[in-house]
Amino acid sequence: MTRVLSCIQPTGDVHLGNYLGALAPWVAGQHEHDAFHGIVDLHALTVAEEPGVIGARTVQLAAMLFAVGLDADVATVFVQSHVPEHSQLAWVMECNVSFGELSRMVQFKEKSAKREFVSGGLFTYPALQAADILLYDTDEVPVGDDQRQHVEITRDIALRFNHRFGATFVVPRAVTPRAGARVMDLQDPTAKMSKSADTGAGLIQMLDDAEMIRRKFKRAVTDSETDVRYDPETKPGVSNLLEILGAATGHPPADLVAGYTQYGPLKADAGEAVIELLTPIQARYRDLLADRGELTAMLRRGAERAGEVAAATLERAYTAIGFLRS
Ligand code: TYM
Repeated sequence: MTRVLSCIQPTGDVHLGNYLGALAPWVAGQHEHDAFHGIVDLHALTVAEEPGVIGARTVQLAAMLFAVGLDADVATVFVQSHVPEHSQLAWVMECNVSFGELSRMVQFKEKSAKREFVSGGLFTYPALQAADILLYDTDEVPVGDDQRQHVEITRDIALRFNHRFGATFVVPRAVTPRAGARVMDLQDPTAKMSKSADTGAGLIQMLDDAEMIRRKFKRAVTDSETDVRYDPETKPGVSNLLEILGAATGHPPADLVAGYTQYGPLKADAGEAVIELLTPIQARYRDLLADRGELTAMLRRGAERAGEVAAATLERAYTAIGFLRS
């Protein structure tokens, strides 16, 4: 069975980009693959948060992962800090990646430009991500487009380590969905939908109510022409709406073009499709969050299973390096 691993940071509310680009494909893949999904709280530490909030965010994100359809009896869902091997292997990764390689990471450039205090962790973040992936002998990493570069550097690290110390790690590949791999901001369709958007108007949160979603789609920025075409280069706004509608309804975006001669109905249909998608998820989220004891128990079980695999891989890596073992 193909081993799949992918993770998400508990750094704020989950948005439609996370869902269409990552969570929906994770749910769709959990029965066909041996799936591992992590809530990466150590990664969230790279940007300063108020002390104390991370635990609550972790539980909320767990509730969201189960609400969208991950099944704790099918997929292994765990919290990164519950499995200490992630931090341990991260150091090995850091020592097998160069300063130059880390300096070329687009996400580091974007994130560091926005803040005064740029932590060392923000810079070495891809090494921790490589540890997440390589610990599980991962074949495939289902991610949105923005994470492809991090999977590429993971491949480079795995190949370098294997070359240096002998075959140890499986070399993974990134997998992105046909539609929804790059959901753009509704107000600025040249920027990806992101939790750090300047205004919330272009960002659809998983917990937005129907009225809010309708309003945001109605006000979505399109362009000055009036025809509906799928062309992300010259018509980013319209193409993004087609992309969202396509991902929400299971159609390739270009196939939807024929149904529209004007922007208004396209915006309205995209909004309604998203509402239909999110309403049942929101209800399940509230139910799940009401039983925190059960949620933390599910995460503990996930960490036990993840820990068994991770411990074996770490030991293999330490032995390959030649560390003195007892
Ligand atoms: P994160 O937490 O920023 O995002 C989680 C997932 O959501 C996808 N995504 C999007 N997809 C489409 N359109 C968008 N606008 C959009 N915004 C976000 C991301 O591509 C991602 O798949 N570094 C990772 C977390 C991570 C990880 C890993 C991922 C840590 N270790 C190991 C895979 C494997 C991150 O910050 O994702």
